Amino acid sequence: MFIAANWKAYVEDAKKGKALTALGKRLAGAYKKHEIVLAPSAVHLGLLAHGNKSKVRFAAQDVSLTTGEVSAQMLADLKVTYAIVGHSERRAMGETDEQVAEKARHALAHGIVPILCVGERERDANAGYLSLIRAQLSAVFEPLSPKERLEVVVAYEPVWAIGKTAADALPAHDIEEMVLYIRKVLGEYLPGKAPSRVKILYGGSVEPLNARDLASGTGIDGFLIGHASVEPATFSALVKAVS
Ligand code: PGA
Repeated sequence: MFIAANWKAYVEDAKKGKALTALGKRLAGAYKKHEIVLAPSAVHLGLLAHGNKSKVRFAAQDVSLTTGEVSAQMLADLKVTYAIVGHSERRAMGETDEQVAEKARHALAHGIVPILCVGERERDANAGYLSLIRAQLSAVFEPLSPKERLEVVVAYEPVWAIGKTAADALPAHDIEEMVLYIRKVLGEYLPGKAPSRVKILYGGSVEPLNARDLASGTGIDGFLIGHASVEPATFSALVKAVS
């Protein structure tokens, strides 16, 4: 599985970041089937990713060409593999689909793989949220070349399920439905069976308690994990639960 730890702004001191990185490396060594990806804050990313020779991969929490932010060239220089784009907490600050698309293109142009977050703020009875997901996906996939489209990792994160507890996560059956829907939308941009090759992650209150259930039979390729990724015992238990 693809297990991405999104530390968001939870990890505030470098010492904790170093300890979590050491743990990530141990887990990546012990569970070779998984791809373990750590997404520290920008300031810690430089410190932790520098010279990394382990199986752990690093992700930036965002990527941008704007002054004061971190560009894809800077990430490529550090040998960072991924950049999260369009996280709901950045969209909530006003980031548009067009800006997310531009970030994804900018990342790909410099060999950084975007982890594209999509997800609705709420679910309406008429399933209008599906059109929103379609628009978020289309904005990014449409301008890309066929080769680039296959590289993007999609993280489906229903915003209302983020930062809560296992009981509040989207039920496995609904995740399965969303994965099918996302692949159907991707079918407009990729030929034949190619949409099944795009990695789809689920994020939103994944914890050791629900991880195994959410991983099995839903068609997801992995998780984007927030709060459960920054407590060493919890993160270890979660990785173990899906192994
Ligand atoms: P959570 O966060 O696991 O704490 O719900 C996920 C995310 O924001 O990416």
